[in-house]
Amino acid sequence: MKAPRILLGVSGGIAAYKAAEIVRSLVKEGADVRVVLTSRGAEFITPLTLATLSGHAVARDEFHEEPSPVIDHIELAQWADVLVVAPATANVLARFAQGEGSDLLSTIHLAFKGSVVLAPAMNPKMWDHARTRANVACLEQAGEIIVSPESGFVACGDEGAGRLAATETIVRETLLAAALSDAMAGKKVVVSAGPTWEAVDPVRYVGNRSSGKMGYAVARAARARGAEVILVSGPSGLASPWGVERIVVESAVEMRDAIFSSAAGASLIVMAAAVADHRPRERAPAKLKPDKGKGYSLDMVPNPDILKELCAARERGDLPTELTLVGFAAETGDAVRKGEAKREHKGCDLLVANDVGAAGAGFGSDTNVVTIISATGRDDLPLMSKLEVANRLLDAVDVWCRAR
Ligand code: CTP
Repeated sequence: MKAPRILLGVSGGIAAYKAAEIVRSLVKEGADVRVVLTSRGAEFITPLTLATLSGHAVARDEFHEEPSPVIDHIELAQWADVLVVAPATANVLARFAQGEGSDLLSTIHLAFKGSVVLAPAMNPKMWDHARTRANVACLEQAGEIIVSPESGFVACGDEGAGRLAATETIVRETLLAAALSDAMAGKKVVVSAGPTWEAVDPVRYVGNRSSGKMGYAVARAARARGAEVILVSGPSGLASPWGVERIVVESAVEMRDAIFSSAAGASLIVMAAAVADHRPRERAPAKLKPDKGKGYSLDMVPNPDILKELCAARERGDLPTELTLVGFAAETGDAVRKGEAKREHKGCDLLVANDVGAAGAGFGSDTNVVTIISATGRDDLPLMSKLEVANRLLDAVDVWCRAR
């Protein structure tokens, strides 16, 4: 197997000294490492240290006065499997988010087509700043992996989140990104996300509190593994993940139609959407004007159960037997037992159960606590980000597909 090719960008923060340890650990893990050092970065760590540890000349800005071999940013961008920047300063995050090409590192970033891992490090106030938050969100949106800084005392004496993540974490995320970058290449994945809105009249609807974050994370994780991803999304404030085809729908019926018409050739369908089980029998053509001071009832009829219909279509042979079907179940209390029963009832291969009442789990949260249930067992996962849950789910799908 070829050694993973890692391009490490080192920018100018006090944590730049830790780049030496990162290079050493990556090399020890068998990676071929090259380093790009910004001119500010070179004020904190010498190119000689990084060249000695990596075994390659360090790439620096072409404007640097010292004689150095001419480095072609396009060549470097093509060479690497993963671009990891550690530390990534607030300035680097801002430039990357803006798509600037003002120095060697940012031009490489612009020309790079593989996985990008960013390990920010800065003063906690800077990390907290609304602009930094927006830049991080924008980069995550573009599919870049953020290795969040840790909390503690930072070099200037302030306390809070901003300290560069541990070397082992950065190395693990980098090697994982390299290993996964084409794990799902050639596969088509359909993911549903968000709530459905069932129209009452042109103004009102019946809906639920789903944010779409879990399904969007699954779409992003599958894309990062090289899959072709179609995201069928109910109404959600989230921006479409990079490289994903998004189909926006409103109701359960529209969602079912979009999923069935996207299903051809798919090897995996993940139903992360919170589909409304019922809809008003009719959408009133004009705004309803119920009597003030009196109650009124809505006549609700059942919606199609999309997951059940997908499982039945596979059973009938209308969808291929190799298609893997995954459901989600948000429960309040006794989530695992209810999830196991739901998986059997729906007929899907895997079901991700979570208790929306648990701390750090559920709608709107960036984290989740889930159990992945299959016919042969279950895996209780601790509290983790929704992106990590998505990655663990894709790992479980891989294990499931190999075992069947
Ligand atoms: N689902 C679906 N179509 C529906 C309802 C749910 O495809 N009309 C899918 C969801 O996307 C999810 C799984 O089925 O993957 C379980 O959803 P959930 O709402 O928990 O299940 P329900 O069957 O609606 O059960 P409950 O009575 O607990 O709401």
